[in-house]
Amino acid sequence: MTKTTAVPSNVPNPVEQRVADLLARMTLTEKVGQMRQVNASEGHPPDYLAALIRAGSVGAVINQADVHVINELQRLAVEESRLGIPLLVGRDVIHGFRTIFPIPLGQAATWNPELVREGARVAALEAAAAGINWTFAPMIDIARDPRWGRIAESFGEDVFLTAALAVAMVEGLQGDDLSSPGSIAACAKHFAGYGAVESGCDYATTNIPENQLRNVYLPPFKAAVEVGVATLMTSFSDIDGVPGTANAFLLRQILRNEWGFPGVVVSDWDSVHQLQIHGLTENDGESAFEAVTAGVDMEMAGDVYANHLAALVESGRIAIGMIDAAVANVLRTKFQLGLFEHPYVEPAAHPSPGSEHALLAAKRMAAQSVVMLKNDSRTLPLSIQQLSSVAIIGPLADAPYEQLGTWIFDGDVALSVTPLEAIRTLLGDAVEVRHLRAMENSRSRETEAFNEAVEAAHACDVAILFLGEESILSGEAHSRADIHLPGDQAKLVQRIRETGTPVVAVIMAGRPLTLANIVDDVDALLFAWHPGTMAGPAIADLLFGRESPSGKLPVSFPRMVGQVPIYYSHKNSGKPPSPDNIVHIDDIDTFAEQTSVGMTSFHLDAGYTPLFAFGHGLSYAEFEYDHIRTGAHTVSIGDAVTISAELTNKSDIAADEVAQLYVRDLAGSVTRPIRQLAGFQRLRLEPGQTVTVAFRLHTDDLAFYGRDQNLAAEPGEFHAWIGGSSETELRTEFRIVASG
Ligand code: BGC
Repeated sequence: MTKTTAVPSNVPNPVEQRVADLLARMTLTEKVGQMRQVNASEGHPPDYLAALIRAGSVGAVINQADVHVINELQRLAVEESRLGIPLLVGRDVIHGFRTIFPIPLGQAATWNPELVREGARVAALEAAAAGINWTFAPMIDIARDPRWGRIAESFGEDVFLTAALAVAMVEGLQGDDLSSPGSIAACAKHFAGYGAVESGCDYATTNIPENQLRNVYLPPFKAAVEVGVATLMTSFSDIDGVPGTANAFLLRQILRNEWGFPGVVVSDWDSVHQLQIHGLTENDGESAFEAVTAGVDMEMAGDVYANHLAALVESGRIAIGMIDAAVANVLRTKFQLGLFEHPYVEPAAHPSPGSEHALLAAKRMAAQSVVMLKNDSRTLPLSIQQLSSVAIIGPLADAPYEQLGTWIFDGDVALSVTPLEAIRTLLGDAVEVRHLRAMENSRSRETEAFNEAVEAAHACDVAILFLGEESILSGEAHSRADIHLPGDQAKLVQRIRETGTPVVAVIMAGRPLTLANIVDDVDALLFAWHPGTMAGPAIADLLFGRESPSGKLPVSFPRMVGQVPIYYSHKNSGKPPSPDNIVHIDDIDTFAEQTSVGMTSFHLDAGYTPLFAFGHGLSYAEFEYDHIRTGAHTVSIGDAVTISAELTNKSDIAADEVAQLYVRDLAGSVTRPIRQLAGFQRLRLEPGQTVTVAFRLHTDDLAFYGRDQNLAAEPGEFHAWIGGSSETELRTEFRIVASG
């Protein structure tokens, strides 16, 4: 075959010119080829795939992570296809590649964009060394339903926190410049509203009114687009009757027209074909029509575009201009990635996976992701000097694979350091460590081995229980309707409690769990999510006081699953509850009259508060917030106001605290949440130190989509709070006034 060079030397560099030049030389088959992504998971390129690539019929591959195979795939594209267009090579690098960082929900618990950026950078470097140039992260679906297994992949329930971490992750993956070594294209997903699936059941229908969509579900995507995310993935789910992959309102009106997104829109896996299964189309031809007219540039892992797009163009149903625009988006991204100049990867050019830097970053993030939910009588930190024996009990104390969490296709389990190993290393010979697994796995209902665990707990100075969920219980398609600790773990806690030995529980899980049935039976409780490769050293440092816990919840923990969705930034309703106007079901009189138990918005059996609130997280230090004030009592539209408070570390240890700013717009053209996170800062305070925590709020930061679906800040009264959780009561007020 005669090969035509992709970039003639006389074409100047500007990307758009190169795109136009290439497009002008492409056949319809080659154009449709660029809109197709093929699953390439085999150990070497199979003949059919090689033939497709040579014919220019593949624009991207997915699920190959072997650098040699990837180089061969690129060679076929670059050297053996007519136009020599390199491939996008996609892979799910969700929270690390070889070195695994905490699951995204754990990353969110750090409230530390710097660390999230650094973790993504490490992941990108490791993945790029394998030849991967595109990942399907970050997942920035707002997730308010812990039954949904994919909450593990999310940054939690909050719009502001999710948007901040979306930006950080995109920056980490893409670096300063997409073409620089070790940068890979990010993909904001899933557009849009996927987290709102009915009953938290994956792939189910969503129903999101436009105002809620714009104010809650879309802002993280807008932030990702503004920071230059290269690609975006559609959602599997149906939103208001139209699945994400056919949703022109989302993909054309909002994404392209309102936000001006110039990158690639990729479908989710086979989701073009699924339009028919949803009941939107009668056949694949119609599905191709719907997806391409909605604005899906590339089909992931399906052949609907390949089989039908050309015919749709030839019959005149689809204008060639629509195809050209989609192909241009793909080519532009390839140029921006520098793939035409550097299609191959020399593994040695990048740092080796699992490097000291990567492991340190993973450990730092794991440590900051752990949230201390309870610490009665200062049970923690444990003092090595005062202990002679420790019982380490439970199915997750020594589970190197499970601690990594969901989506770790390329994770190196051999790098995992478990809590048991790390505690043994930390304690050396000074303290006796007894390890009892007690349960085969978290789901086990076999209680025979409990006896030995109880005996060990009885004989030791402290019992540390490692409980939770294995990685298989969360993630895609892994939703649960009951979010208690699975199996007989609660019984195990009770049995250990009965020994009278202090009980510390460390829970690893991919979601918030309902912990009301164990919380009173433990003295201290650390919620560690799935912390990744360095779970062990991070948790050991926290347990033994080498670090203070500093994670804060990125999502509310319900008391009972029936409270879901429960999130701090809800609306007030016309009948808000308060402690003095609710009744518990156990306290209702016989023959109580209809209105005698109050007329407010609460559950008779659960009240109206979560078990642990958004933003909550304890420390070994003691922090006090005081003296909240505003720089001005009124602020004109277009100006900024500063809200500040004094934060004091009243303890004798240095520790991090995450200071949080919440605001409430008291009256709007549409009703506003009772509180909304509007700023946060992670600060390190020395013993006795006082700092002023100041947040500058521009009125644009207080803008929202109103009754007309336009974004604007509205004049009126605001409340602002600063504190260590969404429950802070330290409040001030200011007023926005019209400018001029
Ligand atoms: C998921 C995506 C993922 C894709 C590729 C789909 O099932 O929904 O999030 O990126 O598979 O693995």
